[in-house]
Amino acid sequence: MSNIVVIGTQWGDEGKGKVVDVLAETARLIVRFQGGNNAGHTMVVDGETFISHLIPSGILHPNKVCVIGNGVVVDPGVLIEEIQHLRDRGISVGPHNLLISENANLIMPYHKLIDHGRERLKGNKKLGTTGRGIGPCYEDKVTRRGIRFCDLIDPETFRQKLSSILGEKTFYLKEFLRSETVDETAILNEYLPYSEVLRPYVANVSVSISQAIKAGHHILFEGAQGTHLDIDHGTYPYVTSSNTVAGNACCGAGIGPTQIHGVIGMVKAYTTRVGRGPLPTELHDEIGDRIQQRGAEFGATTGRRRRCGWLDTAVVRNAARINSLTGLAITKLDVLSGLKNLMICTAYRYKQDRLTEFPAALRVLEECEPIYEELPGWPDDITAFQDIDDLPENARTYVKRVEELVETPVQIISVGPGRKQTIVLQDPFSRLPV
Ligand code: IMP
Repeated sequence: MSNIVVIGTQWGDEGKGKVVDVLAETARLIVRFQGGNNAGHTMVVDGETFISHLIPSGILHPNKVCVIGNGVVVDPGVLIEEIQHLRDRGISVGPHNLLISENANLIMPYHKLIDHGRERLKGNKKLGTTGRGIGPCYEDKVTRRGIRFCDLIDPETFRQKLSSILGEKTFYLKEFLRSETVDETAILNEYLPYSEVLRPYVANVSVSISQAIKAGHHILFEGAQGTHLDIDHGTYPYVTSSNTVAGNACCGAGIGPTQIHGVIGMVKAYTTRVGRGPLPTELHDEIGDRIQQRGAEFGATTGRRRRCGWLDTAVVRNAARINSLTGLAITKLDVLSGLKNLMICTAYRYKQDRLTEFPAALRVLEECEPIYEELPGWPDDITAFQDIDDLPENARTYVKRVEELVETPVQIISVGPGRKQTIVLQDPFSRLPV
């Protein structure tokens, strides 16, 4: 039995959905532990594309149990839609294969209005949130005014909690944000039916995970977003509102750190970011446009065009330390095919200094110039290759160099969106070469 966490090392969108879908084959439980429907995880199976925002990426496999942990913030309407959408496409989803933590906080209509209202007020200083109410929901969780799933399935408690918080929300929305407000009856009419639909899914997921561990099953913990969007370790304040790092798999699911045996860091072969905030290797030229187009770099949740740049190993090294990575999964290597030369950022120049560690102060980061190393590219289409030895020598050199710079072994290389377009160098569950 081994339990693995998969997290993003950059700013999210590294391809976690695909790799989790591939690794889910070996696991019994696939557990989301933070974030909400700000995430968008894409899986391509037999040419069909599935995007999930809340349901863990193991859902396409029969005989697996997907778990939404207590650390996730859940918009119940979106979750019900997602369940229905998967069912319409022939995927079995029900309480037999999907569990929701009774402790998970609910995203409420006022959270979405506050998220939008604040962004609108900030004008061109906005953070570029996904507008899904994620930040305001985590805020209520921390200030102990959140409404949880255990409250939703107990209508009397739900009514009381809603009624006690609405006065303050209405005042803030109306008087400060000058936004539309919410109506108590309308919320009750919307949310109480959700309670009926979702009650069978609500469980003590810490117990379910612990039972699966005792039974000797492998567990896969699926992160959302990426290390540099982490509320503590990211490019604050241009971050999301949860801890996206591997350590949070424990808090967000209800297990202890001794139960984690490996951490895979997802590394896109270049760098992307949606929303605002620093991106030291950002390309504002035709190479950036080419990567954006070839990589179809549009947000899976908001459809926004992602900003693109060269691979930044100062960023990935930072993530390797913060997450204690045991392996890397490099994705979208195929997108770099056809570029004559490739740049890898190894450190930053800040005034007269060479910085090898990622700085915390935004002002410093904004003034950092990447220090690049140049590697030769490869012209070949690599999307059909199944073995590392089939890859062109320059592609292998690129992968090797990432491994050296990050001081972490590459376990998986993805050369296309499909399940089969995956080269597994080391099985992360056995940690032995396959
Ligand atoms: P929020 O999570 O909606 O509050 O947005 C905060 C920041 O995180 C924004 O820059 C978003 O674009 C970014 N973000 C949130 N979720 C994701 C994701 O899944 N991938 C990439 N960026 C994300």
